[in-house]
Amino acid sequence: MLDLPKRHCETDSTRAENMADTQKQIVTVGVTGASGAILAQKTLALLEEDPRVGRIHLVITEAGQRLFAEELGITSGDLRQLPSRILGHPVGKIEGLPNKDVGASIASGSYAVDSMVIIPCSMGTLGAIAGGISDDLVSRAADVMLKEGRKLVLCVRDTPFNRVHLENMLRAQQAGAVIMPAVPAFYHHPKTIDDLVTQYVCRVLAQIGLAQEQMYRWAGTPAAKKAEA
Ligand SMILES: Cc1cc2nc3c(=O)[nH]c(=O)nc-3n(C[C@H](O)[C@H](O)[C@H](O)COP(=O)(O)O)c2cc1C
Repeated sequence: MLDLPKRHCETDSTRAENMADTQKQIVTVGVTGASGAILAQKTLALLEEDPRVGRIHLVITEAGQRLFAEELGITSGDLRQLPSRILGHPVGKIEGLPNKDVGASIASGSYAVDSMVIIPCSMGTLGAIAGGISDDLVSRAADVMLKEGRKLVLCVRDTPFNRVHLENMLRAQQAGAVIMPAVPAFYHHPKTIDDLVTQYVCRVLAQIGLAQEQMYRWAGTPAAKKAEA
C-alpha cells in the first residue's frame, strides 16, 4: 500500500488563520465627516473578523466623530474605547490613533501599511489629499500611501459634486488613488440597508485584496446566457 502524505482539506479561512502574524495585512481605516458612518462601521466589522488581517489602524477626524454621533448615536470621549463602542463588542485588532498625531507610525513610509481605505471620505479630506496638504493624520497617512505606491481607496460621498470635487477626484486618481463613490448597487436585490451596505463594503475590500465570500458576483442575465447557448 502506498504511503501517501495526508491531504489537508484547508479552506481559505483556515489557511488564513494558519498564516504567521507577519504575513497578515496591516490596514489603515480613515473615517471623515461625510454621511455614511454605517459604511465605516461595517468595514471595521469585516476587517476585525477577517483572519487575513493582522492589524487595523483607525483614524477618525473630528467631523467623522460627529457623524458617528449624529447617524449611529455612538459617542466616546476616550479614543481607546471608541473601536469597541463602534462594533458593540471588545475588539482585538483595531487601534485608534488621534487625528492630530502626525507623528504616528502610519505617518511614515517606513512603516509598512498594506492598504488604506477612507470611508466615508468627505470633500474636505479629498481636497487635502488632491492638494498634497497633510496637516492631519488622515491626510498624511493617505499622502504616504500615494508616495509609496500603495493602495489607497477613497470612498467619496457628497451629492451633487461640484467642479472642484470632480477635479480633485481626477487629481487623486491620477496620483494613484482608487475613487470609489459611496453609491449602492441594486442588482443583487437588496432587502435591507445592511444588504446595500454589505455589498458596497465588500466591493471596497475586494479593492484592497480582501475579497469577501459573502460578496454578490454578477454572473450575467438569464436572457444573455440563453442567447450565448
Ligand atoms: C450631518 C453632516 C453630514 C455631512 N455630510 C457630508 C457629506 O456627505 N460629504 C461631505 O463632503 N461633507 C459632509 N459634511 C461636511 C463635513 O463634515 C465638513 O466639510 C468637515 O469639515 C469635513 O472634515 P473632515 O474631512 O476633516 O472630516 C457633513 C457634515 C455634517 C454635520
